Amino acid sequence: MANQQIKNERMEAIVSLAKRRGFIYQGSDVYGGLSGTWDYGPLGVTLKRNIMQLWWKMFVDSRDDMYGVDAAILMNQKVWQASGHVDTFTDPLVEDMETKQRFRADHLLKDAGYSVDGLTLAEMTKLIQDNDVKSPNGNALSDVRTFNMMFTTTVGPVADDKSISYLRPETAQGIFTNFRNVVDAFYPDLPFGIAQQGKAFRNEISPRDFVFRSREFEQMEIEYFVHPEKWAESFEALLKDTHDFLTALGLPAENVHELEVPENDRAHYSKRTIDIEFDFPIGREELMGIAYRTDFDLSNIQRVAGKSMDYSVKGTNEKFIPHVIEPSFGVERALMAVLSSAYTEDEVNGDKRIVMKFPAHLAPVKYCVSPLLKNKPELVAKAREVYELLKKKHGNVMWDDNGNIGKRYRRQDEIGTPYCVVIDFDTIENDGLVSVRDRDTTEQKRISIEELIG
Ligand code: GAP
Repeated sequence: MANQQIKNERMEAIVSLAKRRGFIYQGSDVYGGLSGTWDYGPLGVTLKRNIMQLWWKMFVDSRDDMYGVDAAILMNQKVWQASGHVDTFTDPLVEDMETKQRFRADHLLKDAGYSVDGLTLAEMTKLIQDNDVKSPNGNALSDVRTFNMMFTTTVGPVADDKSISYLRPETAQGIFTNFRNVVDAFYPDLPFGIAQQGKAFRNEISPRDFVFRSREFEQMEIEYFVHPEKWAESFEALLKDTHDFLTALGLPAENVHELEVPENDRAHYSKRTIDIEFDFPIGREELMGIAYRTDFDLSNIQRVAGKSMDYSVKGTNEKFIPHVIEPSFGVERALMAVLSSAYTEDEVNGDKRIVMKFPAHLAPVKYCVSPLLKNKPELVAKAREVYELLKKKHGNVMWDDNGNIGKRYRRQDEIGTPYCVVIDFDTIENDGLVSVRDRDTTEQKRISIEELIG
């Protein structure tokens, strides 16, 4: 796990479980890894999709004011010139003078106990020099300079200035560039939003803390278009919707905090930003952000592309470029918050166990079905019948007949399966009832197959 600093034992336990049980692996692991990239295993991909689908359901499908899009990752280079990313999407970089390794200057200073809020590059350099801050290898550091985080590529067979493109560093621009298309096709009343989920790429100087700071990750973003004078009420409403979503992820409210971002720390496009921070095992860090982007992006598109981004209010002569509220979620950070909230170590009948207490609607496996004994064909046949019925209804159902029943429960607890269903001799000889064990309480109930499926 090159370059990943895992800060404490709880984080290490989660990372280890994620690998052992098929949630998340280091990207290109077999070749020694590629720093800042992660691969999702069978359980991880389902958990991640469940989070993304819940977001889509709450923010798009269940509302009348949201429109979904899925824009291309590669975009015309003018998009990133107009948005300001070519000039300003940078992080402060320092180099180890001996090894030439590169680090985030603000991270090194924060780790050394200094506040970097609002500091210029020259001020950071001075802080490093005055206090003899060293690289993690103990060597002297260079002056601080900027580093653009966009991955550059070329499109087509000829590599020249005109063919330069970038892997998108945010999904937002794919929404802004489709504003006119959506308005022309649907003409929604203001306020309305356009939502998108998808990959984003940033050449982070020092990816770290598991999936928290990756070079390839996913975002779930909304650009919510409002009347310029009515932005504040939509900001508040979307902030509330954000909290509702975080509650639905099962994140304890006491671990979720709002941070009003001061002006000198806000992104170049924002007039107000609230970061939602979460108490991760690595400390309190940004989970997502909600920003008032004004008409910054649409005005830039109008200026550079020469196409009108005006919105005409139906039945009036009023015309203006809408302003924008942007709730921006990182899927990996939501997933890491879900994993760390779910991770529990407790004791059952004197035995230690690890249990992932996922909310049932997010759990990658909903039910596990087993025959009490795997060498009894009559038990296996009945269990298969129940398994097929549940699978037809819920999809994510697992069959497990390995080892004894206690070991099966432990395995399912570790992957967070809410219910284990066991078919025993009473099921086929007496009452027709099956035993259903609750993951969190470990209590078992006997219920009919009809009730279980219903
Ligand atoms: N469109 C606005 C925007 O991209 P941002 O604060 O740069 O704003 C939004 O990113 C969210 O994307 C963050 O709150 C975080 O959840 C996620 N994110 C950003 N960089 C990330 C990275 N390197 N790895 C994982 N998630 C990241």
